[in-house]
Amino acid sequence: MIQKTTIVDIKERKKTGPPITMLTAYDYPWALLVDRGGIDMILVGDSLGMVVLGYKDTVSVTMDEMIHHVKAVSRVVESALVVGDMPFGTYNVSVENAVENANRMMKEGRADCVKLEGGRTMAPVVEAIVRSGTPVQGHIGLTPQTASALGGFKVQGKSAEAARALIEDAGALEAAGCFSIVLEAIPSPIARMVTEAIAVPTIGIGAGIHCDGQVLVTHDMVGLFDRFTPKFVKQYAKISDTIASAIAAYADDVQNRRFPEEQHSFTMKTDELDKVEKQQ
Ligand code: KIV
Repeated sequence: MIQKTTIVDIKERKKTGPPITMLTAYDYPWALLVDRGGIDMILVGDSLGMVVLGYKDTVSVTMDEMIHHVKAVSRVVESALVVGDMPFGTYNVSVENAVENANRMMKEGRADCVKLEGGRTMAPVVEAIVRSGTPVQGHIGLTPQTASALGGFKVQGKSAEAARALIEDAGALEAAGCFSIVLEAIPSPIARMVTEAIAVPTIGIGAGIHCDGQVLVTHDMVGLFDRFTPKFVKQYAKISDTIASAIAAYADDVQNRRFPEEQHSFTMKTDELDKVEKQQ
C-alpha cells in the first residue's frame, strides 16, 4: 500500500533527514512520473505560466488556470504531498479573499496545501489561511511574482541588512504557522542561517546545500524549457533534443512512406474485402 506523505512527515524530516525532495508538475503524465520517482512534494507552481502556457512571466497566471492544473496533478498522485501555488493577486488583496482562494485550491483543486510568496507582511494572511484549515508553505528571497518590485530577477539577501530581513521574514512566517519555507536565490551562508534559525524545514532553489530540502522546476531540470536556464539549475537530461529527433524521424518516415508499417495497420477477412472490391 502506497503511503501518502503528510505535513507531519515533512516537518519531521528537518530532524530526521534525509533532505526533502520537491519538483514541479503541471499535468497528468508529469505528475505520474514525478510521483513514481519517489519525490516527497509535488509543487504545481505558477511557473506553469512560463513553462507550459508560454507567458513571459508568472504575473498573468489566474486562479482558474492554477486549479485546472492542480486538479490534473492531484487526480493521479498517490504518494507525494501536492502543493498548490497561489498566483499573483489571489492572496495579496485582502485576508478574506486569500482565505477564499486557498479554500478553492483545496476544495476544487484537491491540493494538500498552498504556497504563497512574501515575508512578514504576509504573516496575517498565512495565519488566517492556516486558521481556516489549509496548511501553508512560505516562499521568500527572490519572489518571482514581485520581481519587478525587487528590481528584477536578482539574488536576494546580499547585504547584511537584507540578510537580517530574510531571517526575520522566515521567523515571522514560522510564527504565523507555515509548515515549511521555500528560499529562492539567496547566498548559501544566509540560507544556512535561516535554516538554523527556524524549526520548520527550508526548501532551497538557488540557496545552496544547507537547506532541509531542494526544489527545481522539472521542465528546467530535464531540459524541456529552453528559453533560459537559471544558474541554479542542474540539467539532468536534455529531453527537448530527444523529442525533436523523434518528431523529425516521424516526419521523414511519413514523407517517405516508411510509416505506418504492417504492424501498425489493420486487416480484414479476404472474402469481405473481395465483396467490397466487387461492389466498386
Ligand atoms: O512556481 C514555481 O515553480 C516555484 C518554484 C520556483 C519554487 O515557485
